Amino acid sequence: MNLEKYGPWALVIGGSEGVGAAFARLLAADGFKLVLVARKPAPLEELATELRSQNNEVRVVSADLSQPDVLDQVRAVTDDLEIGLLVYNAGANNTRGLFVELPEEVTQSVIAINVLGHANFARHYGGLMVKRGRGGMILTGSLGGYLGSPTLAAYTASKSFSRIFTEALWAECAPLGVDVLHLNIGFTATPAMARLGLPVALAESPENVAREGLENIANGPVWIVSTPGNIERVRLISKIDNRAETVRAHAIAPRAQTAQAAQSHKKLAG
Ligand SMILES: NC(=O)c1ccc[n+]([C@@H]2O[C@H](COP(=O)([O-])OP(=O)(O)OC[C@H]3O[C@@H](n4cnc5c(N)ncnc54)[C@H](OP(=O)(O)O)[C@@H]3O)[C@@H](O)[C@H]2O)c1
Repeated sequence: MNLEKYGPWALVIGGSEGVGAAFARLLAADGFKLVLVARKPAPLEELATELRSQNNEVRVVSADLSQPDVLDQVRAVTDDLEIGLLVYNAGANNTRGLFVELPEEVTQSVIAINVLGHANFARHYGGLMVKRGRGGMILTGSLGGYLGSPTLAAYTASKSFSRIFTEALWAECAPLGVDVLHLNIGFTATPAMARLGLPVALAESPENVAREGLENIANGPVWIVSTPGNIERVRLISKIDNRAETVRAHAIAPRAQTAQAAQSHKKLAG
């Protein structure tokens, strides 16, 4: 990764595990200084300690992206730094359910992280990059952003927002010296997916995903991670005229299960 163009500091949002940690390790190996953001302090500190032991400069921010003041919290740690690369990685969905039954906080959180978060962080850090005439931003998406999936309405819509948003941003920023990429990710073996009980042994490695993102930052607006089947799936979905059957076929979780998810979220929140 070109330190002259995208350095000296990289800000990795969701940078304590999985794809975010892989981004951090690859960037550190290329000489980037890092600011890592996530909620849980312990995994953040653990990764920071690992990277510092290899002589990398690292700052951490423990903050929740669903909170309205999160940009201020991150800015408090970055305002004296030159952030040349923004990687907005966090954004997975862990609660499925019928949109009308899920607690409002679930929807608000997905929209805060994947819609407002992308927009607010890109505006602030991208604005500074444009003033310098150099830099890069990687916003992570999902194959889910090409089709509304029942029980994942807000999530799939939010990833669609990110893709269209990034396309426009890419065209606006490229002539101003800033590369913008929507990194479209398929099933990947992250701790978040493992915690959901998904069969991650079959999934793409976070290292491959992060490496492809960095290697293709200048190949925007959208880069679909090259796991076999990803590009074919996007092409297929994009060509469908009558989407009714395809959308219905994505109603994976049985009705009882989605209602149960809503209940257990209420219990956790309450
Ligand atoms: N893994 C897949 O199969 C897959 C498939 C398609 C797309 N993607 C996309 O790839 C990206 C990474 O996914 P992932 O599976 O690694 O899970 P993730 O939960 O989106 O990302 C994990 C990282 O983000 C942090 N994080 C999560 N929620 C946060 C919040 N509210 N505030 C601050 N930090 C938060 C986590 O630390 P804390 O928990 O400590 O906060 C961790 O560092 C997401 O945008 C996801 O939509 C993933």
